[in-house]
Amino acid sequence: MTIRHYLQFKDLSADEYAYLLRRAAFIKGKFKAFEKHHPFADPDRTLAMIFEKASTRTRVSFEAGMYQLGGSVVHLTTGDSQLGRAEPIEDSAKVISRMVDLVMIRTFEQTKIERFAAHSRVPVINGLTNEFHPCQILADLFTLVEYRPAPGGDPLDALRGKVVAWVGDGNNMANTWLQAAELLGFTVHVSTPSGYEVDPALAGITRSDCFKTFKDPREACAGADLVTTDVWTSMGFEAENEVRRAAFAQWCVDEDMMRRARPDALFMHCLPAHRGEEVTAEVIDGPQSVVWDEAENRMHVQKALMEYLLLGRL
Ligand code: CP
Repeated sequence: MTIRHYLQFKDLSADEYAYLLRRAAFIKGKFKAFEKHHPFADPDRTLAMIFEKASTRTRVSFEAGMYQLGGSVVHLTTGDSQLGRAEPIEDSAKVISRMVDLVMIRTFEQTKIERFAAHSRVPVINGLTNEFHPCQILADLFTLVEYRPAPGGDPLDALRGKVVAWVGDGNNMANTWLQAAELLGFTVHVSTPSGYEVDPALAGITRSDCFKTFKDPREACAGADLVTTDVWTSMGFEAENEVRRAAFAQWCVDEDMMRRARPDALFMHCLPAHRGEEVTAEVIDGPQSVVWDEAENRMHVQKALMEYLLLGRL
């Protein structure tokens, strides 16, 4: 059987996203109704979670999700495994993937997860790299569809033609938004400080009509269905913190930006957030913010994703 990895958003097709978004809604419904859903109980399935960077949401959502599916988890970090003592990533992949059914990795360079996947016998999921964060964008899209469903209920119809305003760093989240926009037919309004722009080649997109760039973040928010941002300094770039604080000072999502978006616009943030930096407390704790549902939805979409990668369509 061909192994499917989820290393970038574009590793799945639009049709597969339509299935996953519907399946996540089904799985979430069972969770909310306290009904068992144990596709990984017999035979027992195990997920290895490898963290080379800190995490709260990714750790809890994958671990709780795997147990809720009837499976189990192994948690590894650089500090408590041979990964931190220079064992080649290829050797680690060969060994770990003989003992588990799925691997989730949070690491630095995308090339590292790609090297792991190339030597893995089981599906590998990107839990964040410097370049991409596909599980987060999957959760964000699911949340957007939940709040703003299409009249006929088709999740892809709900996304097609939407405008997403990205305010801040041209980072892994921005790159992944661009991949999603290209694949699913919406537009990203990107506003970054000079020197922190998105790079379409690095983002892995080929069409230039899926995003527009704006010098002024307020203009990027005009008419948006969703306004979203991330911390000014992503993990791994802490040495740039002071320089970034100066460069990003005008890229704080505030009530004025939200007023320029559509009246029913939502605000999302992948979290953790720094109130007073990339977003004001009034916005993230305000009526248009859906960040807590967005965080919870990581678990539901990842349950659908793990089930799909291991068992296909059910
Ligand atoms: N959004 C996100 O990936 O959160 P964590 O860093 O806490 O996993």
